[in-house]
Amino acid sequence: MDVMKERFLAILGSTGSIGESTLDVVSRHPEHLHVVALAAGGGQIDRLAAQVRHYRPRYVAVANVESARHLRDQLGPTDVAILMGEEGVITTATLPDVDTVVAAIVGAAGLRSTLAAVSAGKRVALANKESMVIAGPLVRRCMTESGAELLPVDSEHSAVFQTLAANRRETVRSITLTASGGPFRDRPFTEFPHIRVEEALVHPNWSMGAKVTIDSATLMNKGLELIEARWLFDIAPEQLRAVIHRESIVHALVTFVDGAVMAQLAHPDMRAPIAYALAYPTRIESGIPALDLATCGPLSFSAPDTGRFPCLTLAQEANRVGGSAPAVLNAANEVAVTAFLSRQLPFLGIAPVIEEVLTQMPSVSWSTVEELLAIDGDARRYAMAAVHDRGNHHAVRCKAVS
Ligand SMILES: NC(=O)c1ccc[n+]([C@@H]2O[C@H](COP(=O)([O-])OP(=O)(O)OC[C@H]3O[C@@H](n4cnc5c(N)ncnc54)[C@H](OP(=O)(O)O)[C@@H]3O)[C@@H](O)[C@H]2O)c1
Repeated sequence: MDVMKERFLAILGSTGSIGESTLDVVSRHPEHLHVVALAAGGGQIDRLAAQVRHYRPRYVAVANVESARHLRDQLGPTDVAILMGEEGVITTATLPDVDTVVAAIVGAAGLRSTLAAVSAGKRVALANKESMVIAGPLVRRCMTESGAELLPVDSEHSAVFQTLAANRRETVRSITLTASGGPFRDRPFTEFPHIRVEEALVHPNWSMGAKVTIDSATLMNKGLELIEARWLFDIAPEQLRAVIHRESIVHALVTFVDGAVMAQLAHPDMRAPIAYALAYPTRIESGIPALDLATCGPLSFSAPDTGRFPCLTLAQEANRVGGSAPAVLNAANEVAVTAFLSRQLPFLGIAPVIEEVLTQMPSVSWSTVEELLAIDGDARRYAMAAVHDRGNHHAVRCKAVS
């Protein structure tokens, strides 16, 4: 049996849902998992300060100067080095005394630090799926050059990774990722115009950050995951599928050329894939109970309803087109989700904003991160204009109703 190696961690996005689950796993293995650095956006300084006091990293980074000052005040005299800005976050991801980086920043904000960790040849436990969506080919190129290891944290991709471990890639016919269907899977479409932010933030099976929870409600999350899977597993978009599985027990299925299907099952708790990514190739206790099939109830599967959830189709099409389309899709989605969360856009406005931006920005080829960031910036500007137009109509309608 493989013996677990000691790991020296930088946890990027430590104050988020994945960050906190990672720290829970760390607490269970203090002899093997050591926190060298933490990084966060700076929106939850109290939580970050508590993590610093508890886990005693040598470095902590926050994305802006003001939050760094606030953190310094909270910590008082300390020998923890406080780093600032995106450069500070990147520094934590590339420290020589860090061998494993947990990339758990949400959105495109995590792109540069993920790339830096990969380029520095670290083991990267990747939760920040947006990095792969925006820059999959670049991440793969950097991996080849640096010898970095990429271990997926998304439960579906971890499931595929585990399933593929015992099989040859060329024998794979297709990969299917499961989706819970989100909070509106049973809601009649006639009620979609009235969906409130509070309802969209209540996921039936998973406890996650706000952005990924809204992505789950629109099924964009599954679309982003299909793009992520393309680059993680070097598989053609036509070989990737999504299926609705309300119970979130089966995380992914791999179909082989002989017709056999292998699936990975576990309770829906992110500590399992996180523990796997940290301990691979061995396995460690993650804090979740073993699955008992006799008591977990019936498992159901059905095709996604892309009529009610068009974001999935938009993402599949962007995956097929390639080039800049996935980066445009991602940027427009981030803007639309932020607008929905701040009540500037109705739930039903999210997909049309993304579609409009994809139409305005036909796919082009790119090769550098600078080109990608320029594309990302343009897509955000178009999306904000589209939100503004639709938001005005939304406000007028809300006023008329009230
Ligand atoms: N949650 C899940 O169960 C789950 C499952 C699979 C995949 N994922 C993926 O994992 C990633 C994180 O998701 P989450 O649910 O953990 O999100 P979350 O709860 O919203 O946490 C996001 C983290 O990113 C930090 N952050 C935001 N902007 C930053 C910046 N510019 N620089 C540095 N840190 C920044 C936040 O810091 P502050 O809030 O302190 O500012 C927070 O620590 C996403 O890509 C998501 O799709 C999540």
